[in-house]
Amino acid sequence: MKLYISFRLRQTATIFLGTAIAGLLAACSYTYEPPRPCDLPVTVSYQAHILPILKEQCYSCHSADKYKTETSSTLNMEDFASLKYYATPANGRDNVSYLIGNIRHAPGFQPMPKDGQKLSACEIALIQAWVDAGAPEN
Ligand code: HEC
Repeated sequence: MKLYISFRLRQTATIFLGTAIAGLLAACSYTYEPPRPCDLPVTVSYQAHILPILKEQCYSCHSADKYKTETSSTLNMEDFASLKYYATPANGRDNVSYLIGNIRHAPGFQPMPKDGQKLSACEIALIQAWVDAGAPEN
């Protein structure tokens, strides 16, 4: 009888532990999120978040008055349709948009800002989130 109880106990403990570990693993796989470089807003806004970065870091070469004059022959960022074209993964390389590949300095892309400092991890994450949302003009 004693033997039986301790066997039952061990069995119960094993089942309990097993369940706990499985539960933990399941919890981990469902709640795990890769570390973020900054807190992203729930909805990334083109006007509030993206445009200020582009104005600050890119318009010196990609604004309407620079387009087809001195610095850029392909991309006038003030023309939203043109920006959206370059933000669209299907128009890029291996389904990575030129906008993202360029700011990430990915192999095979032209590092942007040209001859300048790479954007901060937070700025890149914001632009990535905006592109992932379909690059809306919001
Ligand atoms: C010092 C000038 C300069 C700055 C600043 C600059 N670019 Fe460019 N960019 C260029 C040139 C030159 C090209 C080459 C094609 C062209 O003539 O537009 C280019 C091309 C591009 C293209 C078109 C796709 C391609 O690879 O040809 C994208 C997208 C782009 N830049 C994104 C950016 C972004 C985003 C920023 C700001 C973070 C930026 N650029 C800042 C000069 C610049």
